[in-house]
Order: sequence, then C-alpha cells, then structure tokens
Amino acid sequence: MSALLEVRDLTQRFGGLVANADVSIDVNKGEILGLIGPNGAGKSTLFNAIAGVRKPTEGRIAFEGRDVTDLGAPERCALGIARTFQVVKSFETMSVVENVMVGAFQRTASSRVAREKAREVLEFTGLAAREKAMANELTPPEKRRLEVARALATEPKLLLLDEAMTGLTPAEARQGVELVRTVRARGVTIVMVEHVMEIVMPLVDRAVVLDLGRVIAEGKPADIVRDERVITAYLGERHRARDA
Ligand SMILES: Nc1ncnc2c1ncn2[C@@H]1O[C@H](COP(=O)(O)OP(=O)(O)OP(=O)(O)O)[C@@H](O)[C@H]1O
Ligand SMILES: [Mg+2]
Repeated sequence: MSALLEVRDLTQRFGGLVANADVSIDVNKGEILGLIGPNGAGKSTLFNAIAGVRKPTEGRIAFEGRDVTDLGAPERCALGIARTFQVVKSFETMSVVENVMVGAFQRTASSRVAREKAREVLEFTGLAAREKAMANELTPPEKRRLEVARALATEPKLLLLDEAMTGLTPAEARQGVELVRTVRARGVTIVMVEHVMEIVMPLVDRAVVLDLGRVIAEGKPADIVRDERVITAYLGERHRARDA
C-alpha cells in the first residue's frame, strides 16, 4: 500500500502547552485508521493540522506525495481532504439539502449539479427523507449524519471523522459503522477518532494511539488493546481483565 497522507514530526504548541509533539503518521490509501487516546491527547488538534484549519508550529504534511503544509483548508479540501467537526457545525437556518450543497459547491459552480449531488449523498447517508427540514430541526444523530453528508459531498479522497458516532444509541452506531464501511468501499480513505472501543476496534484496519500529544503506539487493533502503554494511558484495567 502507498501512503496517501504523510505526517512528519508535527508539533503544535499553544503557548506553553504542547498539544501535538513530534507526531509522525502514514495513512495508507484505502484503509480505515483509528486515532484514539484520552481526552486532551491532541486528536482534534491533529485533525486541524491535517485539514489545514491551523498551521502546525513545526513539521510537514504531504498528501498524495505533495507537501501541503502551507496550504489552507479550502485548498486542501479541493485536493480531497474533508473533515467533520467534533462540535457539529451545521448552517442551522438552512435546509438539510442546502447544507450538503455547500459541500457539493467544492466541485461545481452549478446549483443544479450541486443539488443533484447533495440529493445523491443524502440518499446514501440515510437522510433523504429530511431533505427539506431545517438543520436546526434535526435530532443530534441526524446532525452527525449531516456533517458526514456535507463532507462526502466534497468528494474527498481522505475523510476525517471526529467523534462522528458520539452520542448515538447502539443501533444508530451500528448504522454509522455500516456507513463508514460503505464509504470506504467507494474508495475513500478514512481516519476516525472515536472513544467507544467496541465501535472503533472492529472497524479499523489499524490504530494510532496518542497520549499527551505523542504517538505511544500504533498497530493492529488486536495488538493495541494488549499494549501495556495503551492500557495504562487510556484503556485501563477493564480491558486488561477482559482481554486476558
Ligand atoms: N485553540 C487552542 N488553544 C489552546 N489550547 C488548545 C487549543 N486547542 C486545543 N488545545 C489544547 O490542546 C490539547 C489537545 O486538545 P485536543 O482538542 O486536540 O484533544 P482531543 O484529543 O481531541 O481531546 P477530546 O477527546 O477531549 O476531544 C488540550 O490540552 C487542549 O486544551
Ligand atoms: Mg477532540
């Protein structure tokens, strides 16, 4: 497999706080990579750096072999990097279909084409019946889907999901898992942040664990859940006992 995204020696400082410290990660084309770690570990900060929301203090990021470190978020989106936000950012007083059209306009200037694209994505994400609703009328799980739909409408090669399944019931989470699998089957590479191990571990091909801004482990899910450093920093005794 070839690396779609390469993060090299990335450091993000906020004053005296080091939110990401010397992070180096490869994301392979076609994989689902899980990014896990305790609260404040630097997961969302890393997503911001990859998506171009914030320029890192140090380090480089390459996408499809091209250095994108100095590009802003719109340029990276044009290259095929899309993200959802941990705190949902819908356009509340616009309809669902209009929200998704905002993403589709990344690839077309035509409202007709953008609307067609938006409808297709809404169908795919299970929101077609809510097309005309205002975003602020959606339930929290529907809003999470809308976030994913808007990101997908930009036709990404790399999709960054930041806790897209947080707050879902087990049944909704299962649907979310299916959606992620279908997106990957369409050729999209995925990096996902999730705290619920029962969701993330069966779904991902590989996991990277951050703690205090540093990568403390990476590998296959089965190895990650047995890694002493990961258990100590994040998973705790519960997992040690269960997986023993
Ligand atoms: N804009 C900012 N200014 C100052 N500090 C920040 C900023 N963004 C994040 N931080 C700090 O950086 C650290 C990493 O935060 P980040 O949001 O990346 O963690 P996270 O792994 O996403 O956590 P969570 O699981 O709670 O979402 C935290 O200590 C946070 O308070
Ligand atoms: Mg976060």
